[in-house]
Amino acid sequence: ITFLFCRLVFQSSTSVWLFSVFIVLLVLNLFHSSPKEREPPGPRGLPLIGNLFQVDLKRLDQNLFNLSKEYGPVFQVSFGPKKVVVLAGYRTVKQALVNHAEEFGSREINPIFHIFNQGHGILFSNGDSWKEMRRFALTTLKDFGMGRKMSEEIIIEECRYLIQEFELFKGTAFKNTQAISYAVSNVISALMFGKRFDYKDPVLQAMVERDNETIHLTGSASIQIYNFIPWLGPFLKNWRDIVKNVEDGKADVRKKIAELKETLDPELCRCFIDAFLLHREHLEDSDTSSSYYHDENLLYSVANLFAAGTDTTATTLKWCLLYMAKFPQVQDRVQEELSRVVGNRQVQTEDRKNLPYTDAVIHESHRMANIAPIAIPHTASKDVSFQGYFIKKGTTVFPLLTSVLYDESEWESPHSFNPSHFLDEEGKFVRRDAFMPFSAGRRACLGESLARMEIFLFLTSLLQHFRFTPSPGVSVDDLDLEPLVGFTLAPKPQKLCAVLRL
Ligand code: HEM
Repeated sequence: ITFLFCRLVFQSSTSVWLFSVFIVLLVLNLFHSSPKEREPPGPRGLPLIGNLFQVDLKRLDQNLFNLSKEYGPVFQVSFGPKKVVVLAGYRTVKQALVNHAEEFGSREINPIFHIFNQGHGILFSNGDSWKEMRRFALTTLKDFGMGRKMSEEIIIEECRYLIQEFELFKGTAFKNTQAISYAVSNVISALMFGKRFDYKDPVLQAMVERDNETIHLTGSASIQIYNFIPWLGPFLKNWRDIVKNVEDGKADVRKKIAELKETLDPELCRCFIDAFLLHREHLEDSDTSSSYYHDENLLYSVANLFAAGTDTTATTLKWCLLYMAKFPQVQDRVQEELSRVVGNRQVQTEDRKNLPYTDAVIHESHRMANIAPIAIPHTASKDVSFQGYFIKKGTTVFPLLTSVLYDESEWESPHSFNPSHFLDEEGKFVRRDAFMPFSAGRRACLGESLARMEIFLFLTSLLQHFRFTPSPGVSVDDLDLEPLVGFTLAPKPQKLCAVLRL
């Protein structure tokens, strides 16, 4: 064949000319695909459909984790016409989010995220407005004691209500899902609105119910497909339900803002909303530009903190209790440590440093639960050359936290619940670099210290009072650790008994 080809080519001067063009194109092509310009590898897809039929949208993170073993730590998949670059493994995710913080620090605003926030607020916004809202939220929450004494008091008060609620069941089996969500939601309510709600209050129940449903629907296959084919939206029930939830949620927050506005007192800052309104007045009085402090940014920032602060923390706490029932020997050791170090008095955050085993169990629960498996999608904010690959500005980027929290080169037994991951040989608590459930870099969770304080205080207070066991007739082996997949990974609703210890 080669011989025939050469004969054909050299038969005429035209052929010689064509052959030269071919060689030039070949050289140009080689030059064009130099390492700098190389796109990340990935499975070959079909035109228009991409890899849509090759990935399991129902357990996307696991599927992408498996693909990373074939294609390496930086690879790409196409969802319909949309290319997504996946970052996998601790080293790569950290290198991207921390060492290339600027390039990988923008949020992906896909059609459903746009419906949530219209580009305002904190979670699904970018640019200077995001920067200002994130900065304001962080400093204000710190002023309100996030991760410090004042939040501690709010959380401890809420622990008492939650314990009372669990006591009502007198050791019989019940689903703890709602009570935990109400308790966690009340901590955020106290910070946002300056008040907690009774667990029977329909406003609280509706807010929590809506957010739970929205988070679950956002992870559904139909909404992921909608993100690639937006005109489908109105034809999808999940889309219509989300739009209704978002509108109802906004109406509730607007009402709360209006109530607080009416009673606003410059001498008394009661909550986040007051702080925002007073800051705006202060900027207006001093003729400083307050262009970002508009009503929409207030509305969406409050809605974001409320949603991000409730579901994540409550879900993690539900996992912790399920692990306690599933691994009774671990529960024994936590309770032994609590009895020895704290006794019957209220646990304080200060106690944490003297409770290394308990601390290790909490960290291991965060790791195993892996509630935000692909963080929240990012985009490349500019053209970037990363690990020898070219990633174009605007490309969607998934920091695959599953591949960090289960990284086989970082964890001794990544797939089992093993608190020793966080303990040294003497039983002292040790930090691990690959512990990244809150993500990292510019878009890392801004509620981390509050969440950690809540989980520590809620869990230890509950374990001082109760022993968690499976329902009668259900064995420890029957407790299901497979997650219910949504935007976050939650435990499947299963009844547990909270048996009084004291
Ligand atoms: C166990 C509890 C929590 C976990 C595991 C968690 C995890 C996360 C993760 C993975 C992200 C995405 C980071 C990224 O895109 O790279 C995030 C973002 C965020 N979280 Fe959390 N979170 C928790 C609790 C909270 C709480 C209590 C609050 C509020 C007080 C909160 C507020 C936020 C906000 C506002 C963002 C968006 C940050 C931005 O886009 O700049 N989170 N969180």
